[in-house]
This record gives sequence, C-alpha cells and structure tokens, in this order.
Amino acid sequence: MSRTQVGIIGAGPAGLMLGLLLAREGVDSVVLEARDRPYVESRVRAGHIEEGVVEALAEVGEDTRLRQEGFFQSSFEVRAGDERHRVPVAQLTGGVGTWMYSQKELLKDLLGGIDKAGIPILFEAPVIGVDGVATPRPLIRYAHKRRPGRLSCDVVVGCDGSYSVARSAIPAANLRFFSHCYPFSWLGILADAPPVTTDELIYVHHPSGFALHSFRSQSLTRLYLQTWSSEDPEQWCEEDIWRELRRRFRVHSGWPLNEGKIVQRAEVKLRTLVVSPLRYGNLFLAGDAAHVVPPTAAKGLNLAVADVRMLAPALADYVHRADPSGVDSYSERALREVWDAVAFSMEMTSVFHAFPKDRFQAGLQEARLRRLCSSPPYARTFCEMYAGLSRVRRQSSSYLQDSHPLAVKGRV
Ligand code: FAD
Ligand code: DHB
Repeated sequence: MSRTQVGIIGAGPAGLMLGLLLAREGVDSVVLEARDRPYVESRVRAGHIEEGVVEALAEVGEDTRLRQEGFFQSSFEVRAGDERHRVPVAQLTGGVGTWMYSQKELLKDLLGGIDKAGIPILFEAPVIGVDGVATPRPLIRYAHKRRPGRLSCDVVVGCDGSYSVARSAIPAANLRFFSHCYPFSWLGILADAPPVTTDELIYVHHPSGFALHSFRSQSLTRLYLQTWSSEDPEQWCEEDIWRELRRRFRVHSGWPLNEGKIVQRAEVKLRTLVVSPLRYGNLFLAGDAAHVVPPTAAKGLNLAVADVRMLAPALADYVHRADPSGVDSYSERALREVWDAVAFSMEMTSVFHAFPKDRFQAGLQEARLRRLCSSPPYARTFCEMYAGLSRVRRQSSSYLQDSHPLAVKGRV
C-alpha cells in the first residue's frame, strides 16, 4: 500500500490543477485517472475560458501557450431577427474579456506541469471506492492495469466528473442534491472548417431556437443548435444540421457559414445538478463531481478551476498546520460561486432560447434582449457575470466583510 497527503481522483482540469497548486504549497499528492493519457489529451470538450483560469495557469507557470495560441475575446455578438448587435464585454468590465483555448490543449499544459513537478500520476487506474472518509486516514481502492492497489491519504479529493465514485463514499443521508432540467438540449458539432470569425462568439435567438457559433482553433468550428428533449438527436442527419444552422444564422442575408466534415457530435443536456455539502470528513468534492451546470455561459470548467483554487491553500493549512478554518468553510464558499454561476447561466438561457407555447416567457425574453442591447448598466452586470469577473474579484477579497458597502450590520 502506498501513502500520500492528498489523494486526487481524476485527471481532468480540476484534478490536474489541484495537484499543481498543492505542489506549490509543498503538499504531496497522487493523481489516479481511469483513462489512458492519449484519451485525456485528446478529449475535445470546453474551450471558453475565464480570466480566473488564466490566473491559475500563471500561478502554476503554465500560461505561456494559452497567451500565445489562445484567442482573446473582447466582445460577443447577439443576433435576434435581422438585427445584429455587438456586446463589448471588455469595454464594460474594465478590460476583462474571455479566452478561447481548447480544453485538450489546457490539459496538455497541465500534464506537462505535472511531469515537470514530478507529481505521481497513474493512468488506467480507475478508483473503485474510498473507505474511512470520516477517519484521519481515508483509503482509496483502485485497479491499475487490472491489478488492485490501495492508497492511504490524509485527505481525498474527488475530481472525478459527473459520475463521481468519490461522491458515492458519502452516506446518502449526509448529501443533498439540487437539480433542474430544461425540456431542451444542445446538439453540438465540431466541424472541420475555419470559423467565420475568431474575434467573437455569436449567440443567436431565433423563433425555432438558440444557436451558437464558436470555435476551438483556426480550422475547427464549434456550432450548437437548441433541440427538444423529445427529439432523438441521432435523427438529425448532417444535411438537416447544416440546413437548420443556415436558417438560424440567416445565411440567406449574405452572412457566410463555413461548412465542413462533422468530426464530432454530442448532445449536451441543459441540466443543473448541485451537491451539498462538498465535504464529508476528509473527503472533498470539486468540479463536475460537485456540480454540473447548463452549458449556456460555459461555466463548467471555469467553476472546476475556481473550486480547486479555493481548496488548495485551505488543504495546505490543514495538512501542514492542522488549521481547519479554510477547509471548514470551503463548501459554503465554493457553493456561493456555483449558485451565482447557475443563476447567470439560467438567466442567459432564458434570454436566448425558444420557449414555444409560452407567450409570457417570450414577452420577458424580448424585454431582456432589448435591455442587453440597449441598457449599459444591465449589459455591464451581464458582462461581469459572463466574464466571471465577480469570481476573480471575490477570490482576492473577502466578500461581505465589514468594509463592504453591503455588509450585514447585525442580526435581527
Ligand atoms: P472532468 O473533465 O469530467 O474530469 C474528470 C476525470 O476523472 C476524467 O478524466 C475521468 O476519466 C476521471 N474519472 C472518472 N471516474 C473516475 C474513477 N472512478 N477513477 C479515476 N478517474 C476517474 N466548460 C467551460 O467552462 N467552458 C466551455 O466552453 C465548456 N464547453 C463544454 C462543451 C461540451 C461539449 C461539454 C460536454 C462540456 C463543456 N464544458 C465547458 C464543461 C467542462 O468540460 C467540464 O465542466 C469540465 O471538464 C469539468 O472538469 P472536471 O475536472 O471537474 O471533470
Ligand atoms: C461554448 C461557448 C460558450 O460561450 C457557451 O456559452 C457555451 C459553449 C463552447 O465554445 O463550447
């Protein structure tokens, strides 16, 4: 049996970033990952990245490639009917925009950092269970290339995604689940075609449903279409997808859409799942293991990194100095960010998606769209949430403390 201070389950953005942040604090960790390294390095998922992630990459010395090869986004475009409107995010947030940088490139950078720091990482090592999470010596059981292994830890962190095995080590009576599901999904495609623009993402509100033009590189376009949960996404053939994209982006009005071979397609459900609390004894949850947010506004990876930025210094205090204050407040602090992101994601969903047979919702939606495109104070608040600015700010200052203008002055 081997031993470490922090056993990390999962080598996604949360697990790898946590390993690197802990190493900076002088805390030993071991990362256990179910899949092999080529799989982890080639999985195309997220791409829309907030400044908080760039800061975290800089902290662990892995931001160079993102700054050279990533695409800074200072604005986004809104389309509704024949109208096109630019929302100047960076101008409204005092210079903070977002970045487009593929999750697989980010994972390659983080794995490079893990190698350089000499952090032990086992691929093809699925975790089967975690025992003794309420004791000072939790134990991870895993299989490495089919041979059983055990890792004894001071602390275990479940960064193992939405089907988390770590989460199931928490007794059901101690865990609450909060969930919400829209009656629609996104059909996402990755097309082998140059994006029409790499300067800004295009969010479309169309009577038939939402559409989004995004990208992952100079030659890979990412496109999404709102579809109904009652539909079978497999029923959409390539020609149907392109026809519907042309219609929603109003290609007939002279705007081009570069088409190419569809190299990946996926249904992304618009669902929320928040778990609470994010700690039980010496087991902590971070990233998708703790919360799955709707894709609108692209907060999943950004929250995963925000969680571990909060957790790493708290764990260092805990294992080095037996100071539990940071770990004791981790769940509450992280969940505050999560609910903020969920609230914004749902607001953005309600601005852009079709809610047919609901004329009340349609009326609200028109009002919100009009406000986004014409009211600077509303657009500023929207952009601050879109860019994750509140999260960046809150990370470095204590929110609602006595000096804050909204501080609570006492209890009734
Ligand atoms: P994951 O990335 O899921 O990593 C978990 C890791 O744990 C995996 O490598 C998995 O193999 C491993 N694992 C699982 N079980 C075990 C086990 N038992 N033992 C050992 N290892 C295990 N988010 C954004 O912020 N911006 C975006 O633009 C964006 N776009 C997206 C587009 C799509 C199509 C999808 C599907 C998601 C998108 N997301 C986006 C969400 C984002 O990808 C996730 O929120 C993010 O990957 C979560 O990171 P994580 O480290 O928590 O989990
Ligand atoms: C993506 C980008 C977004 O801005 C968003 O809201 C959802 C997804 C993306 O590129 O995958």
